[in-house]
Amino acid sequence: MHTILVTGGLGFIGSETVIALINNGYEPVIVDNLSNSKEAVLDRIETITGKRVPFIKLDVCDEEPLRKVFAQYKIDAVIHFAGLKAVGESVEKPLLYYQNNLMSSLTLLKVMKEFDVRNIVFSSSATVYGVPERVPLTESDPVTHATNPYGETKVMIEHILMDTQAAWKELNVALLRYFNPIGAHPSGLLGEDPNGIPNNLMPYISQVAIGKRDHLRIWGDTYPTPDGTGIRDYIHVVDLAEGHVATLKKLDKNPGLVIYNLGTGKGTSVLEMVHAFEEATGVKVPYKIYPPRAGDVAENYANCDKASEELGWKAKYNVVDACRDAFNFQKKNPDGIK
Ligand code: WQD
Repeated sequence: MHTILVTGGLGFIGSETVIALINNGYEPVIVDNLSNSKEAVLDRIETITGKRVPFIKLDVCDEEPLRKVFAQYKIDAVIHFAGLKAVGESVEKPLLYYQNNLMSSLTLLKVMKEFDVRNIVFSSSATVYGVPERVPLTESDPVTHATNPYGETKVMIEHILMDTQAAWKELNVALLRYFNPIGAHPSGLLGEDPNGIPNNLMPYISQVAIGKRDHLRIWGDTYPTPDGTGIRDYIHVVDLAEGHVATLKKLDKNPGLVIYNLGTGKGTSVLEMVHAFEEATGVKVPYKIYPPRAGDVAENYANCDKASEELGWKAKYNVVDACRDAFNFQKKNPDGIK
């Protein structure tokens, strides 16, 4: 397995994974429609790795341009990140999310079949578990309905991949259920660079820390948790990227269908994240308590024993490391990647 097509490869997790692929001797090829990423990321990948990665601007829903990429490169595996991923936006624009996320995946699988490309790693999400009945979550916990259309697209694409693998036995499918990706590349050249006001906790805290936002709004402190704030499993994006490389090695053994939680196995509350950030950076993060955010669950963190046993992969970094790297990126890119 050598040439890896990375859809959405200029995004936050995609670009970090491209670096991990290069560091592990693979040849990545990036396709991205730049709807939520910047072409300048390609230069930064080159600065970090010394490699100019082939990049083709396209929308994975567009069959012809995608077919040309498969014809030009002998692709051995696909890592499929491309997709819309804003929970709130998906509630306002469900059809956009179903159309984009499902059609891109269906088109990708159609072209993979045509070119007999037999390995796919899918960027799924802990959100497929919906409201957890218990934590920590294992891969055998029920996947019924997510709490939003974005999460529902992940549930549906998991089903599309499972059914496709059941019919096309030579296809190897890995479903990777990420928990909460945070942090940045240690160089500060790559990191989470959302458009507009960040929905997610870490980029918002980072922007407060550089004075771009006045204070952090903590969405609720009356949850049934030790300090009343929401608990999540925050995983450093570099650990997450390495998890994809470990998964490719697993697919090389033709396992058929595999499913892994990628997290740290540890729950951290919002207030604990604020304290971790202050410890990592020495910067005070002012905050105010606001009513709970619609759709939020109290606790959501992973049991990652399966990935550890079957992939030999474990997260190495903790939330203080991730806060340090996120702040370093934010300081160096106060207005995002240009
Ligand atoms: C984390 C905690 C908030 C912002 C979502 C998606 C998930 C994945 C990661 C794509 C919660 C609290 C947050 C803020 C806050 N995305 N918070 N103030 O909602 O766990 O997961 O992003 O795959 O699929 O569902 O992440 O960072 O938004 O929230 O208090 O300004 O921080 O209430 O407890 P979430 P988050």
